[in-house]
Amino acid sequence: MQRTLIIDALAATEAQASITICGWIRTRRDAKEFSFVELNDGSCLGNMQCIVDAGTTAHAQLDQAATGAAISVTGELVASPGKGQLWEIRAQSVTVFGLADPETFPLQKKRHSDEFLRTIAHLRSRTNKYGAAFRIRSEAGQAVHQFFQSRRFSWVHTPVLTGADCEGAGEMFRVTSLEPGDKDVAADFFGRQCNLTVSGQLEAEALAMGLGRVYTFGPTFRAENSNTPRHAAEFWMIEPEMAFADLQDLMELGESLTRHVIEHALAHCESDLKLFDSFVDKGLIERLKGMVAAPFARVSYTEAVEILQKCGKEFAFPVSFGTDLQTEHERYLAEEHFKKPVAVYDYPKEIKAFYMRQNDDGKTVAAMDMLVPRIGELIGGSQREERLDRLTARIQELGQNPEDYWWYMDLRRFGTAPHAGFGLGFERLLMMLTGITNIRDVIAFPRTPGNLEF
Ligand code: 4AD
Ligand code: MG
Repeated sequence: MQRTLIIDALAATEAQASITICGWIRTRRDAKEFSFVELNDGSCLGNMQCIVDAGTTAHAQLDQAATGAAISVTGELVASPGKGQLWEIRAQSVTVFGLADPETFPLQKKRHSDEFLRTIAHLRSRTNKYGAAFRIRSEAGQAVHQFFQSRRFSWVHTPVLTGADCEGAGEMFRVTSLEPGDKDVAADFFGRQCNLTVSGQLEAEALAMGLGRVYTFGPTFRAENSNTPRHAAEFWMIEPEMAFADLQDLMELGESLTRHVIEHALAHCESDLKLFDSFVDKGLIERLKGMVAAPFARVSYTEAVEILQKCGKEFAFPVSFGTDLQTEHERYLAEEHFKKPVAVYDYPKEIKAFYMRQNDDGKTVAAMDMLVPRIGELIGGSQREERLDRLTARIQELGQNPEDYWWYMDLRRFGTAPHAGFGLGFERLLMMLTGITNIRDVIAFPRTPGNLEF
């Protein structure tokens, strides 16, 4: 089907005698002499205005097509005398692919609430807001790849089905297979326990020990039954892992990656970001520009705890050394104290995972979380424990068997090297970029408790 995307037609530099566009009708207005049809094809926020003269073949072909109908329009691209758009199409012919019954089509011209649109996730990409959100998602994903490729990281693909629990937090979804004929018998993975991965980190570490610099970018799963605006059971994570690198290198990487994606979005998603700036989060663009204008902050966990204790604010959870920082603390640090993203490093080892490198003080590990205003934790990572004896002791301290991690220990037996990596939650990054406050609205088909319909 020969067609021009509306994004390209709207950027035309001269009139064209004949052009064909396809899309879904956003609005149709019928006047005596002609009908105005606003068409959107998802390539951009803008609609193409089509004028269909009454009494023409095209008008007869348009027939009953109204909001929601899929059509194509062929006609002349001419300068638009109206406000708001440079070009419009004088229709010569129209094809209707599919009508949408105005009585039952749920997306009418009025503004719909986010809550309502979540119940029709299969249709919401046809609205301005969700179209923009998912285009920004696509651009941000490209920016992530660009960033790592330019730094010579290899994109690696770690398994979704795994026998390991990387975080040791027991938040895994169990996978079962049904034998033919079985209705309810959980057979697991051909006789072995199998989970959906919570993180590709352990495998990424193995690959970093051969390829040097790697990153994953794919879905991960957490069986946490927490109904918050920042947690999903299925979310996309970006996990770089670098050999011959320490915590300083890791903080630099996290800051540069975040900065690069923001800059890319500002440069490539201008009109979509403006929509969010106008209707969702006033001041968003200025805030994003401010974020990339100055270096991010860095503070040790110990200092962060002091700041929280002295700030005079009443938190629901009081803080002292050893407290796992809650979202309220994380947001206070980023939003009110530093007023910009901040990397908090050197956390107490008790509140962090077994694989983090122990510091010489015997109390802390070389971990870092990057906290950002309005979101809280965007990145969590660490330098890894590369010393076999220390790692073995830590696993035993936690009441586990190092043998269960035999291949992970092998990496420490054969040519071990300092290395570091983190995980960045892609949906949280998108919440930061768009000002959307609920994680359910930055992923097309969210997986949160109660959401499995689509
Ligand atoms: O801090 P987390 O749990 O770290 C890890 O999984 C490490 N193994 C990563 C690594 O070092 N390679 O998760 C990393 C990030 C968090 O900072 C957060 O942005 C996001 O993943 N995240 C979630 N995003 C949405 N929904 C959830 N349930 C999330 N859990 C974590
Ligand atoms: Mg974390």
